[in-house]
Amino acid sequence: MKISDILTLAKKQNKILEAELLLGFLLNQNRVFVFANHGLEIDENIYKKFQKLWLKISDNYPLAYITKLKEFYGREFYVDERVLIPRPETECLVEEVMKAMGCQLLAVSQKVKVIDIGAGSGCIGISVALELMEKFGIKKENLKVILSDISREALEVAKINVDKFGLKDITKIREGDLLSPVMTVCSSVIPAEAGILDPYERKDSCENRNDMKILVANLPYIGSKKYNFVQNGVKKHEPGLALFSGDDGLDSYRKLFEQIKCSKIKFNLMAYEFGDSQKEAFEALIKVNLSECQFSFYKDLAGLWRGVIA
Ligand SMILES: C[S@@+](CC[C@H](N)C(=O)[O-])C[C@H]1O[C@@H](n2cnc3c(N)ncnc32)[C@H](O)[C@@H]1O
Repeated sequence: MKISDILTLAKKQNKILEAELLLGFLLNQNRVFVFANHGLEIDENIYKKFQKLWLKISDNYPLAYITKLKEFYGREFYVDERVLIPRPETECLVEEVMKAMGCQLLAVSQKVKVIDIGAGSGCIGISVALELMEKFGIKKENLKVILSDISREALEVAKINVDKFGLKDITKIREGDLLSPVMTVCSSVIPAEAGILDPYERKDSCENRNDMKILVANLPYIGSKKYNFVQNGVKKHEPGLALFSGDDGLDSYRKLFEQIKCSKIKFNLMAYEFGDSQKEAFEALIKVNLSECQFSFYKDLAGLWRGVIA
C-alpha cells in the first residue's frame, strides 16, 4: 500500500488532512514528509495500525487524542481524553490579552498573576504566562500562574503541560468550583471545596496584594436547550464537563460573575470566551454583574463574536 492509495481513500471521506497527519504520526514524520512522499510504500505493520486508528477517526474521534498533541498559540500542548482539545478560536483570547497588555505601562518589577479558571489543558494560562515573559520581558520570578478546574483529571493534564513548559516553580494547580479554590468567595454562593490537588494552603494569595491580576476563562458555554451548537463528534468524545453549562450554556459564567462580585477583588484584566451566537446574552450578563468594568468584544478569525475583554 502506497501513501497515495491511503490518501485516495481518505479523500472519499473528506478527511485527507487527518490521514496525512495520522500517517505522519505513525511514520514519526511531519505532514510535509507525507505530502512529499506520495509514492512511498507503507510497511504492513504501520498500515495495520493506520487501519485500526482510522476506524476511530471515521467515528470523529479527535486526532489530537491519538497523537496526544495539539498546537496552540505556536506551542505544542499535551492533550488526552481528560481535557477539551484547545481550539484555534481560543488563541484569539490569548491574542486579545496580549494586545491589552501592550497598552499597559509595565514597570520592570511589575508582579503579574495569571489566573486561568476552567484551565483544562492549561493552554490559555500557560500561553499568556509564556508570552508575558517572551514578549513583555516580565521576569519569571515576578510571574505567578494559577490554573484551576473542577476536574481533577483535567488538572493532571494541566500539570503535564506546566512541567513541559518549565513553569512548575511559579504555578499553582487548584481543584474546585470556579474561583472558590483560589480566593474567598461568599460561602452562601459556593460551599468550601473538598479536594485540592496540591498541598497548598486553601486560600490563595489573590487577596490583599498589589500584583497585576489577569483573569482568563474559557468556561463551558453550550446549552442543553439554547445555544446547543455542538457537533456530534465533539459531544461523543470530549469531556461533557468542558462543554455544557445549563439550559443556555451560561450558568458557569453566571456563577463566576457572582463570585467575582462577592470576592470584591479587582482584576486588572479579564478575558472570557463564549459561543459565536451568545454575544447579546453575554453582554446582558456583564452589564448586570460587572457594571463598573469597561469592556469590549472581540471576534475570532472567522469574523464571529467570540469573547470579551474587560
Ligand atoms: C471549554 S473547557 C476549556 C478548557 C481550556 N481552558 C481551553 O480553553 O481549552 C472548560 C473547562 O472548564 C472546566 N469547568 C467546568 N465547570 C467548572 C467549574 N464549575 N469550575 C471550574 N472549572 C470548570 C472543565 O472541566 C473544562 O476543563
